[in-house]
Parts: sequence; C-alpha cells; structure tokens
Amino acid sequence: MTDNRGRLTREGIRIYPQDDFAGMHKAGKLAAEILDGVAALVVPGVSTGELDKWITDQVDAANATSATIGYKGYQHASCISVNHVVCHGIPGAKRLKDGDILNIDVTVIVDGWFGDTSRMYVAGKLSRKTERLIQVTHDALMKGIEAVKPGNTFGDIGHAIQTYAESNRMSVVRDFCGHGLGRVFHAPPNVLHYGRPGTGAVLEEGMIFTIEPMINLGRPETKVLADDWTAVTRDKSLSAQFEHSVGVTADGVEIFTLSPAGKYHPTWG
Ligand code: MF3
Ligand code: CO
Ligand code: CO
Repeated sequence: MTDNRGRLTREGIRIYPQDDFAGMHKAGKLAAEILDGVAALVVPGVSTGELDKWITDQVDAANATSATIGYKGYQHASCISVNHVVCHGIPGAKRLKDGDILNIDVTVIVDGWFGDTSRMYVAGKLSRKTERLIQVTHDALMKGIEAVKPGNTFGDIGHAIQTYAESNRMSVVRDFCGHGLGRVFHAPPNVLHYGRPGTGAVLEEGMIFTIEPMINLGRPETKVLADDWTAVTRDKSLSAQFEHSVGVTADGVEIFTLSPAGKYHPTWG
C-alpha cells in the first residue's frame, strides 16, 4: 500500500494533515467496538478460534477489511495471546480455562485507514496478582499517552511507560514495539516502550502511531515458538498488553481507539 499524504520528517515519520484524523477515528472506533463486543464471549470453555471467528464476522458485517488476514502470511483477524504468550498468539482450538488472561488484538482497515488496538480479558475469575499485572499494564499505556504532545520525544513516551512498570516491580518487553500507522499498517518510527527522556525523534502535530506496551510479571526476555508467530516469555511468567492508536494534535493527543462502552479492563465492564 502506498501513501503520499502530508510530508515525511527526516526520520521518515509521516506528518498527516489534521483532516485525516477523521478517517483514523472511524477505523479506530470500529476496532474498539469489536473489542467491546467480544468481551461477552470470553468465558471458560470457549476456544480462541471461536473468538476469532466472531471477530472476522464483525469485520465483514461492517464492510471493513482485516489488516492481519494475509499480512506476512498470517491468516486470522485477531491475535489472541493467552497467559505467558506476549503477543501474536494464533487463534485456534485451544479452549480457555477459568482464570486464563488473554490479550485480543484487532486491526481493521476502513476507507484505507488502519485502526489497531488491543486489550486484556479474563475467562472466569481474575486472581489478585493477575489483576495487578493488567491494571499496571493499562496504566503504563496511559502514562505513555500522557507524554504525547508536540515537542516531547519518543524517548519521553518510553521512559514514562518503563518507569511506571518497573516502579511496580514488573518488566517491559524490549523485543516488540509500537509503530507508525495511518494508511499503512507498520510505518516508522519504532515506538519503544522503554527509554530515556529527551531521546529519539521529536513529536510533531500530525504524527499517527500506536503505543502497545507488553509488561511481564517476571523477566522481559521473550522467544518466538516454532510456528514463527507466537511470542512467549522465556521464564513462562504472565504477560499483559494494551494498545491504542493515537495522533499528535497541536496541544496534545487524540486517541482513535477509545472504547465506546468504556470497557478497558476485565473488571470494569
Ligand atoms: N496488531 C499487531 C500490532 O499491534 C500486529 C499483528 S500482525 C499479525 O502491530 F500478523 F500477527 F496479525
Ligand atoms: Co500495533
Ligand atoms: Co495491534
């Protein structure tokens, strides 16, 4: 897919005109609505393949396109990452058990714009330790988003996330990052979820990207399984992730993937 809107910074980051944010809001809203709707289906006994089937049908019903089906050979409308799976879990026959936690990540294309978002869910009952992991991961994402405004840097975003996670004795995954977004799925820059203040590219009005921290209860190291997709924690510790698609405005940030139902957290819904 090509894109020639706006202009590129010298780091190759696209600056979109503010008018383009309307398209991102539409795509982001659909992705967020799908994540709202799937919550009711997440119960012990359901398979991740069944959840993905429902998501596929929702994308079709909205006359939208899944960005992940056919992406580098991936064949599903969602990634579903259970327990110690960090990201890119492949939906399939595996059935959820009581207490399993999972991230569901959906990316849709609406009128050429990409909406990319993920949240955590629980099948059945959430344990106290797991609830804390999910809460800290969600709040770490929001701390990162609070650092988004013109003049700040990408390092400021990473630093905000890292200091929050580590002050809660959790670790930030280094092996995967957020990304530029817009009329393409993955564009510059790599949005790191760790870093030092004042480093990296300077944020400018019109930039569009994701922030999607993966936080582990144990060590940060990951490995990819033989299926070439599924990333897991090396120490088998639990991992959580939340993702929003955002745009930089003149004085701050707009979140394109806000939940219309206000459902961000398995226990708030
Ligand atoms: N949605 C993921 C992201 O946040 C990418 C998934 S690519 C897939 O960037 F092929 F694994 F689906
Ligand atoms: Co993403
Ligand atoms: Co995603």
